[in-house]
Amino acid sequence: MGQRIGVALIGLGTVGSGVVQILEDAVGRDMRLQSVDLVGVAVRDLSKPRTVAIGSDRLTEDALTLIENPEVSIVIEVMGGVEKPYALIRRALELGKHVVTANKALLARHGQELFALAKANRVQIRYEAAVCGGIPVLQPLQQCFGANRVTSAIGIVNGTTNYILTQMADRSLAYTEALAEAQSLGYAEADPRADVDGNDAQEKIAILSSIAFRLPLPELDQIYREGISAIALGDVRYAQQLGFAIKLLAFAVRQSDGRIDLRVHPTLVPLEHPLSRVDGAFNAVVIEADPVGQIMFYGPGAGGGPTASAVVSDVINICAELAYPVQSAVAEAIDFPGYLPIGEVRTRFYIRLKAFDLPGVIGHFGRIFGDHGVSLESIVQKNPHGEAAELVIITHNVQESQMRSALDEIREGTYLKEFCTAIRVLPEG
Ligand SMILES: NC(=O)c1ccc[n+]([C@@H]2O[C@H](COP(=O)([O-])OP(=O)(O)OC[C@H]3O[C@@H](n4cnc5c(N)ncnc54)[C@H](OP(=O)(O)O)[C@@H]3O)[C@@H](O)[C@H]2O)c1
Repeated sequence: MGQRIGVALIGLGTVGSGVVQILEDAVGRDMRLQSVDLVGVAVRDLSKPRTVAIGSDRLTEDALTLIENPEVSIVIEVMGGVEKPYALIRRALELGKHVVTANKALLARHGQELFALAKANRVQIRYEAAVCGGIPVLQPLQQCFGANRVTSAIGIVNGTTNYILTQMADRSLAYTEALAEAQSLGYAEADPRADVDGNDAQEKIAILSSIAFRLPLPELDQIYREGISAIALGDVRYAQQLGFAIKLLAFAVRQSDGRIDLRVHPTLVPLEHPLSRVDGAFNAVVIEADPVGQIMFYGPGAGGGPTASAVVSDVINICAELAYPVQSAVAEAIDFPGYLPIGEVRTRFYIRLKAFDLPGVIGHFGRIFGDHGVSLESIVQKNPHGEAAELVIITHNVQESQMRSALDEIREGTYLKEFCTAIRVLPEG
């Protein structure tokens, strides 16, 4: 047997326990795992019962001392949070230790600085599990797509919101009922905002886009974000009648002028598009690249076992590079023209609003849209009851800023009883 490689694990929760299960049962997996020694595991509370058998001699509440142990050459961070893991990872890199992390919230905020620190200390920082959990997507993009120019990465990267939207579509649950069920099943946190407001997807598309386009990580405020909490069951039903599913999509799309369009928002996805069939807590990312064409990655985006699979594969890749080192590249923005503001995005829209059922109401809205350069594909009156009529409108491709100015005028007008939703529509194919 060759050189032994000491690993420190920081965190023994859902993901950390999955990592221990793999590391302590290496037979039948990659041979390199047999040279990995789990030196110790740091937790927050030693008295907590554990689902994996790990001797008290290897458990500690002192993560820093464990990281500083000279026997440790790879640090796995699966504790979550931002500032504490940031300090620990910095220390590990400064000490010349390789780092594996599943922490998208940390990377999306401090990643660029940590990558530079890793480069300066000639060590690696790997983070396959930070995007789409168990689905290998970052490393394939870095390695197997090397001959390609990626034009877009569009995906369902948050399982919680996909679970909620799937239950609304399949079982006619209201948004609040589907969210409560996701919480009771452990798919959603007690405080679900990071998922339902789109922050988690925003962090993931930041990381995914930097790998896809070989660029430094974007600032999070360069990524337009909209969550799913305004989606009503009525929208899901109308979308189905029109031939769409509603999904929370994350977009990273290269424009013809080189700028990158980054955004996260609920989207009407044509039923013939493969992303419309990604249901429940699953994730999927569709990559378009030249010359390979379209490739879809699909699988479990979270969970202890799947996420640990990605974490441990990063450990194996570090072991491989320790044997045969290759220079790891840190992306630099050379001649990059920047990110596309949301106002310049061109897309179709689905609009639902309630109008007073007055003569000329459809003409009134049609004129406002026309005045702002918004051309309509269809306008249908649904469920007229009492004095209010519900209008469901699909537009042709329109520039977002024109749509916003049209909606502003509609909101101020006297014909509008209630503005309900505006959801962007994914092109077919
Ligand atoms: N869960 C998933 O499916 C999934 C998927 C992809 C990525 N991730 C990412 O993976 C990371 C971990 O997620 P998780 O679901 O495994 O979290 P978790 O179940 O809450 O586990 C966190 C672990 O970290 C430990 N910990 C917290 N603060 C610590 C500290 N100061 N020092 C030492 N240990 C500390 C906790 O110790 P105690 O057990 O003593 O409390 C616990 O064992 C997060 O960054 C998450 O975003 C998770």
